[in-house]
Amino acid sequence: MNATDGLAVRDLAVNYGPVRALRGVSLEVPRGDVVAVLGGNGAGKSTLLRAISATLRFQRGGISAGEITFGGARLSGTAAAAVVAKGVVQVPEGRRVFARMTVEENLRAGALGVRDRRGTAKARDRVLALFPVLAERAGQRAGLLSGGEQQMLAIGRALMARPKALLLDEPTLGLAPMMATRIAETIREINAQGTSVLLVEQNAALALALASRAYVLEVGEVVLSGPAAELAASDEVRRRYLGITADEVTGRPAVTRPSLSRWSA
Ligand SMILES: Nc1ncnc2c1ncn2[C@@H]1O[C@H](COP(=O)(O)OP(=O)(O)OP(=O)(O)O)[C@@H](O)[C@H]1O
Ligand SMILES: [Mg+2]
Repeated sequence: MNATDGLAVRDLAVNYGPVRALRGVSLEVPRGDVVAVLGGNGAGKSTLLRAISATLRFQRGGISAGEITFGGARLSGTAAAAVVAKGVVQVPEGRRVFARMTVEENLRAGALGVRDRRGTAKARDRVLALFPVLAERAGQRAGLLSGGEQQMLAIGRALMARPKALLLDEPTLGLAPMMATRIAETIREINAQGTSVLLVEQNAALALALASRAYVLEVGEVVLSGPAAELAASDEVRRRYLGITADEVTGRPAVTRPSLSRWSA
């Protein structure tokens, strides 16, 4: 794995005023990979994505230590629009489509600031191929779409900026299982088309099925990281994030998994 090739977060600390939300967080998203970040409410998952997308200041937060780079170039310290221009685009938590604007206008908003008209037309074709329902609803107000369709629109809007890396904040939250599965399939497809993905999810089973590596955040720190398949098999992750009871866990033969690295101070 080449640290200068993909997205790299090193020793990141983030505060909201006196509240420290992240400390000593390091992670990497190698180019072309899907990397998952798991963790409970308030663990700092959204804060991590906001730090990468340079949108912390809109929440009165700021980076107090550490560095974020993409393809070797510094993202931390630049403006949100510059991060998008470098190819890193976030789909925020809670979808946040422009409800009173049409589907088409929402998509166009995703390409604001992109000068390359042919590139934008190609991006639009890609989005409508991924989500045909958005073509059917092009003239409809976004607020009238179902939750799943709004999530598709939010992802589609982000893809209009032609990201090299996509940051997804709980894309399946509140969706019915079938819709969550569809979103997961789409994330896989977007990745297969060459876009790296940093996926924040509370649905650990879904995230670990998609990702090659995963990190577990607890109270602002990385407490566990490793290959997704190994995390999915670890007793701690099974118990805490996959809803498997202690009895079921102890019923399994003990396996040592040396490549999982545990954070320690
Ligand atoms: N704008 C803010 N001002 C002050 N504190 C904040 C702000 N946003 C988040 N926090 C705090 O920072 C910590 C991390 O929050 P964050 O939203 O990043 O967690 P999360 O893992 O995304 O949680 P969830 O699963 O609920 O979305 C929490 O303690 C939260 O209360
Ligand atoms: Mg969050």
